Amino acid sequence: MAVSVVVGAQWGDEAKGKIVDLLAQRARYVVRYAGGSNAGHTVCVNGATYKFHLIPSGILHSHVTAVIADGVVMDLRSFSVEAAALREQGVDLSRLRIGLGVHLTMPYHRLLDELEEAQIEGRIGTTKRGIGPTYADKAWRIGVRVADLLERDRLAQRIQRVLMRRNPTIQRVYGAKPLNADELIEEFSRYAEQIRPYVCDVPHLLMRAVEQDEPILMEGAQGTLLDLDYGTYPYVTSSHPTAAGACLGTGVAPNRLTEIWGVAKAYTTRVGEGPFPTELEDETGERIRNRGREYGTTTGRARRVGWLDLVALRYAARVNGFTALAVTLLDVLSGFPRLKVCVAYRVGGSETREFIGDAPALARCEPVYAELPGWREEITHCRTPDDLPANALAYLNFIEEYVGVPIRLISVGPGREQTIGAV
Ligand code: IMP
Repeated sequence: MAVSVVVGAQWGDEAKGKIVDLLAQRARYVVRYAGGSNAGHTVCVNGATYKFHLIPSGILHSHVTAVIADGVVMDLRSFSVEAAALREQGVDLSRLRIGLGVHLTMPYHRLLDELEEAQIEGRIGTTKRGIGPTYADKAWRIGVRVADLLERDRLAQRIQRVLMRRNPTIQRVYGAKPLNADELIEEFSRYAEQIRPYVCDVPHLLMRAVEQDEPILMEGAQGTLLDLDYGTYPYVTSSHPTAAGACLGTGVAPNRLTEIWGVAKAYTTRVGEGPFPTELEDETGERIRNRGREYGTTTGRARRVGWLDLVALRYAARVNGFTALAVTLLDVLSGFPRLKVCVAYRVGGSETREFIGDAPALARCEPVYAELPGWREEITHCRTPDDLPANALAYLNFIEEYVGVPIRLISVGPGREQTIGAV
């Protein structure tokens, strides 16, 4: 395994949690490298369901050290709720590590995200978890990091400094109530004691692990098309879910990555605003949404649903350098007489196979479809490629050929055992 990365190949929610859980069996470290509590992973093991937002789901394996690396932004209020719920389910958190360089998502970040999203004009449809404002402060170099949290005076100084800038915006731009620095310092000093046992120098921890050939699994959140630079800006998240982001977020050098897994649904979904060429706003879309239970883990929002977009998937394969694909939720497509896959975009009288990242330009694209025959049978019990109906295999072969990356895992249900292929 050496260093493997799992990346969402679409607009997030590709069921990466399950793939990470499978790959974690042979990992020594499982590392979250970007995003924050905007993410949501659900893992089902032996009938129990575990929900993760910040803590890497690899923690469920007793041989794994679960790491929240420096590229992640961390909301300590939400972390504390998540940690308590997992402890209650009997999960041992002593194998958790949190980077000194992790930026904290503070209550004013969440508030600013909510206030901005309340404006109709220019709304992104964010998860309102304060992600954009946290990364903005990081880039502006006024952010508060875990390292600051551990020393009360330093924490007080950082919070006072940032509130001098953020409170006037909260008050004058949005007409909302400013935050009290002393109350925040008090509250966050308490969190410092909760997380102190887990804090460490993550880049060094991982560099040593790489040098000792210990297997590392980097767990992506969101998806390639939500990448701040390579997604459909401005309808993106504020971090880098792509494979390059795994290096930035952990301190592990690019030439150390050995396996890059792309995880894609057998169809496409998107949450929030932004262009979506293959979107289905009809009965077929409704049927896929219901069969796939396409409602957000974090926000409960109904996801937008559409046919598989191979132009976008091939782009994701090229941007990330996928070495393997995992196709998830294939079982959702059972029972459709015909299936469409987008093989090109039609724009201004010509056709292209190149993805268009610019949001207004993508919105003008029309999908060009290939039609494939569907299959009637339920496939949730299938465990080998031979168990699959011939048309399901043909569908997968079509994807593999178009994208040029081998499909090594196929998921036909939420359970660990509902998987075809080996890791
Ligand atoms: P933010 O990350 O909350 O700022 O939201 C920015 C965009 O990313 C919005 O369209 C969100 O719906 C989307 N987004 C953020 N996290 C996820 C996720 O885990 N799955 C799917 N979409 C996400």
